[in-house]
Amino acid sequence: MTDPKETLERLSVEQKAALVVGASAWTTVPLPDSGVEPVRMSDGPHGVRFVADEKAMTRESEPATCFPTAVALASSWDVELVREVGAALGAEAAALGVDVLLGPGVNIKRTPLGGRNFEYFSEDPYLAGELAVAWIDGLQSRGVGASVKHFALNNQEFQRNSIDVEVDERALREIYLPAFEAAVTRARPWTVMCAYNRVGGALCSQHPRLLDDVLKREWGFDGLVVSDWGAVRDRAAAVAAGLDLEMPGPRPGHVQEVLDALADGRLALERLDEAVARVLRIAQRAQTARREAPGAHDVDVSAHHRLARRAAQDGMVLLKNDDLLPLTVDRPLAVIGRTAKEPKVQGGGSSRVNATRIDDAWSALLELGADLRYAEGWAADLRPSPELVREAVDAARQAEAALVFVALPGALESEGYDRTELGLPAAQVELIQAVAAAQPRTAVVLNSGGAVDMRPWLSSVPAVLQAWTMGQAGGGALAEVLMGRASPSGKLAETFPLAIEDTPAFLSYPGENGRVRYDEGLFVGYRYYDARRQSVLFPFGHGLSYTTFAYQDIHVSEASFDAGDTIDVSFSLTNTGAVAGSEVAQLYVHDAVSRLRRPPKELKGFAKVSLEPGETQRVTLRLDMRSFAYYDPTHRRWVAEAGDFELLVGASSTDIRLRARITLAHGTELPFALTRESSIREWLADTRGKAVLEPLLGPIRQGMAHAMGSADESQAIGMDLDRFLMDMPLVSLFGFQESEAGMSAAALVDDLLARGGGDHAAEEAPA
Ligand code: BGC
Repeated sequence: MTDPKETLERLSVEQKAALVVGASAWTTVPLPDSGVEPVRMSDGPHGVRFVADEKAMTRESEPATCFPTAVALASSWDVELVREVGAALGAEAAALGVDVLLGPGVNIKRTPLGGRNFEYFSEDPYLAGELAVAWIDGLQSRGVGASVKHFALNNQEFQRNSIDVEVDERALREIYLPAFEAAVTRARPWTVMCAYNRVGGALCSQHPRLLDDVLKREWGFDGLVVSDWGAVRDRAAAVAAGLDLEMPGPRPGHVQEVLDALADGRLALERLDEAVARVLRIAQRAQTARREAPGAHDVDVSAHHRLARRAAQDGMVLLKNDDLLPLTVDRPLAVIGRTAKEPKVQGGGSSRVNATRIDDAWSALLELGADLRYAEGWAADLRPSPELVREAVDAARQAEAALVFVALPGALESEGYDRTELGLPAAQVELIQAVAAAQPRTAVVLNSGGAVDMRPWLSSVPAVLQAWTMGQAGGGALAEVLMGRASPSGKLAETFPLAIEDTPAFLSYPGENGRVRYDEGLFVGYRYYDARRQSVLFPFGHGLSYTTFAYQDIHVSEASFDAGDTIDVSFSLTNTGAVAGSEVAQLYVHDAVSRLRRPPKELKGFAKVSLEPGETQRVTLRLDMRSFAYYDPTHRRWVAEAGDFELLVGASSTDIRLRARITLAHGTELPFALTRESSIREWLADTRGKAVLEPLLGPIRQGMAHAMGSADESQAIGMDLDRFLMDMPLVSLFGFQESEAGMSAAALVDDLLARGGGDHAAEEAPA
């Protein structure tokens, strides 16, 4: 292929317009004369869904490894593992001739009902960002491009093709964008996929602010923005907004729209040229990757299956364990529930993979030599079945322990619509209750792609293992964990609430009249439960092990630091139990005092550490300025405010083991932002404002007290004068006083503004 710049110059407008719309369900338009080959895309994210027929969107796909879905990968908190999975996905994609794999999905889990939560990493933007970077690095190391999706604010499936999201700027910047930002700025994905929904009235596919201003200009994204499949309504408006490639194709009508808009001046040729240049650059990258590594990607299917098994195991979360697990193979065990034999390995929709094989826990337990009896437990169609329950109870009674396998049925967790409730199907709840009543040594094994309400049965069972949508090799991983061949080490990447009514989005989800307002703002997930001091079923970051860990000797590299410095936080982690295990240590930052409201704590670092019994390791986590910063919408930038911060190291968001305090001596320098309407408190919070106002305050307070008929300044007419004045705009205060020179209140404030911030302070201050 010739250089993309030269190719661009040689193209006619018709060719250019044709290039920005797909050629088929999965490919871009080729230009044989210029040596430009089509770029081939496939879903993603947890396996390659390669549909050989380019015209078909949903035909049966070629066999591929079905890795655990994002919820399970995220629960591993293991960036190295996620990188390995990314690389394996890259190898499989390359072997099938796929240039771009459509993933990862990095949208934040705003509500546990989100239909695609199984495909997304976390409720926490930092964790989602770190994992996305690792996943993309791994994938792209194999010469296959990623497509970070769905940009942005696709946090529910209900009305996903039309819903208009209203979100405030801080929540956008601090919660919903950071995972995309980390992915784009650090991992440099080949493509970013826009979301279907609207944001602030505009479709994401036609959103100049998101696509052009934020993604391309602010973050410097040099790849290709591709539409979600069918997300474009007005192709010309989308090109103008920065949407480079529309998929799928062909859409001759949309090509014509672009030509018409060029002809009548609605679309500038430079905008089309930019989109074409980006398509050509990715085509070139793909071609180079294909040429450089021909045949290098012979896939070792068995090795990938083993990796899928390791990943499934690493992400399983032992939610509860009152001395029941692990079990031993020499005691009779009742295995109840059809998902022991027919496991749920993934969710529904475009991510569905045609697995190369599927392991089930039943066979894997038998292979380990377990003495088992089986009962189906619940009917496939979930109708109540007293007979199946009776059989299950009999099996449980005859054994020394019971494992009850339950799962959210496949179609309940899918792209395109949301879950309607948090609970398990009634037939499964009834089964758990009946078995637990007959056999006190009962463990529940749960396959779901997200949080489940367990209140009806949790207290009656001693153990619960969350195995997620665990991928094709999950059955083997389950057997190993249940029998203690491996200690569970996953931790929740999302809070399990007690009830749906407790969740932060409860009152505003799913929206009405086509709109959803993210009223909870920044307070998503644990940020909300922390702030409300609200109990949850299982907190963010929670997960048990067969061993125990001690956290000791926290040390911070600097007690006091400046904006621009990095801080190393280190501590010792010891395996204090009898078996080997891995611990996910988490570092949260709490801002002691802040001008803008902040969540009580936020995750800013973590490490997964494997330790033999008795072994100790020193863990070091690095923080940078962003770890301490909030986004200030007034200044339109990230601000780390001078002052004290507390560093909290723990085994979960509610199990903090170590604390340290550090001081940011000099925070982010901000431009002078006081205005005529600024309050006294704001004047005093600004160093320059304080310098000019403070000398005047004494006389002003005296004057006020006098005017209010009190000699005692602090008790003027029964009120606290300081509190009365603090949040009053300076201009209102001056309004009470005639200046000696006869200046108006506004002129007095302007004079101070000029003295504090320079001649043009008042005009320069942002609105
Ligand atoms: C989904 C995307 C997917 C695309 C292609 C869309 O419906 O939202 O995640 O990559 O289809 O299958």
